[in-house]
Amino acid sequence: MLKRIFNNGWRNPSDVMSGYLDRIGAGYVIKDPGPLDFDYVPENIVGREDFQNKLAARFSSIDKPETSCRAVISGPVGSGKTVLVKTFCRDLKRHLANRREIRIAHVNCRNASTSTRVVQRILHAIDPGHPDRGLSMGELLLSLRKLTRRNSAHLIVILDEVDHMLRKSGDDILYQLLRIDEDQEGKGTLSLILISQEQIIDVLETAVLSRMGKTNLIQIPSYNEDELYKISKQRADLSLANGSCSDDIIRLIAQKSAPIGDARLAIELLKAAAEACEIRQDDHTLREISADDVHSKDKELSVDIVSEIDALENLQPHAMLVLLAICRRLRKESSMTTGDVENLYAVVCEEYDEKMKSHTTLWKYLKELEKRQLIVTRISTVTGGRGRTTHLSMPHFLPSDIAKRLEMLVKKQF
Ligand SMILES: Nc1ncnc2c1ncn2[C@@H]1O[C@H](COP(=O)(O)OP(=O)(O)OP(=O)(O)O)[C@@H](O)[C@H]1O
Ligand SMILES: [Mg+2]
Repeated sequence: MLKRIFNNGWRNPSDVMSGYLDRIGAGYVIKDPGPLDFDYVPENIVGREDFQNKLAARFSSIDKPETSCRAVISGPVGSGKTVLVKTFCRDLKRHLANRREIRIAHVNCRNASTSTRVVQRILHAIDPGHPDRGLSMGELLLSLRKLTRRNSAHLIVILDEVDHMLRKSGDDILYQLLRIDEDQEGKGTLSLILISQEQIIDVLETAVLSRMGKTNLIQIPSYNEDELYKISKQRADLSLANGSCSDDIIRLIAQKSAPIGDARLAIELLKAAAEACEIRQDDHTLREISADDVHSKDKELSVDIVSEIDALENLQPHAMLVLLAICRRLRKESSMTTGDVENLYAVVCEEYDEKMKSHTTLWKYLKELEKRQLIVTRISTVTGGRGRTTHLSMPHFLPSDIAKRLEMLVKKQF
């Protein structure tokens, strides 16, 4: 067959070989991959207005030539510390464009974990040709002092993941950086922002904060489901084709990442789902991300809260039938209403020749399933109306896996 194709010149051999790669770069779902990247910095960050204001307050007099400022940002993984500071410095630079020139040296101390490496990186940011080798710490600091004075611009040094450096080299370098202006006429050449995850800053609190000033500490919390929804929605709008990602899918992604509250996980889930959808296309008209696409990377990305077996242990027989009904729907859809559950539960009861339990009992089962984290519920109010609808989803388990296990368990019960 292949021979015939080639001989008749229908197709080029490389087309046949790489047919499975057709979807790569097709852009059915992913129009612009940039905003799904870790390092992408959005024009606006969402849901962090309070902390943007707090940071701005710490820098309220930065437009004055004699001023330098300090801030320490702490918070859990993926709570947006880095992006908060990056966007703040970018916006500040634009805002002060005609009043005070700002230069930024962002050093990630995970990659530069000794104080010498840190100062070298700062010097590189302001003078890319600065020699690295053979200079002592004293000489490096002298160079930094000279360069900051010679240059009229104000330098903001960001030491991100600073705990890595503090653990290796201690906090003496902070002291040195804060003293950089001491021997001149009160001219503020350098501001300092430290970023670290919460747990670590607790340990280092006394040493670091006494240098930086306790009131300069800004603690940010992890994201809740609604905030993760907004972050995922922003990225979906920026990168995906119109109509390829429904609000329900964004909600499912937010629910999956909410137990950890990590924005990076939400973006990663969105990216993985979009990629799965892009590749699986066989009909060009069907290009909507499905709940299955979101679940496909699940095992690698999210932390299972409890195992399937633990979650299903000692579940009442009819609670199993209700859950089976739910799983069958959630294999295809990302969420369903309690009305849907009741209808599908009726179908399952018929299949197993069982009499349906009352509405109140069904409600009790749903509460129990929620307690075991098998389902997550969300109440929505219809705009303009008085009705409230309960939506159910299964962000922490794969509906198809649970259904398979239940079908085996149910067989033993009835
Ligand atoms: N409020 C937000 N609006 C838009 N995007 C956000 C927001 N918060 C976080 N992100 C995005 O989520 C990802 C993780 O955020 P970020 O890297 O700032 O977290 P972090 O707190 O610095 O994490 P870590 O402790 O691991 O360094 C980034 O891609 C970032 O752009
Ligand atoms: Mg960070």
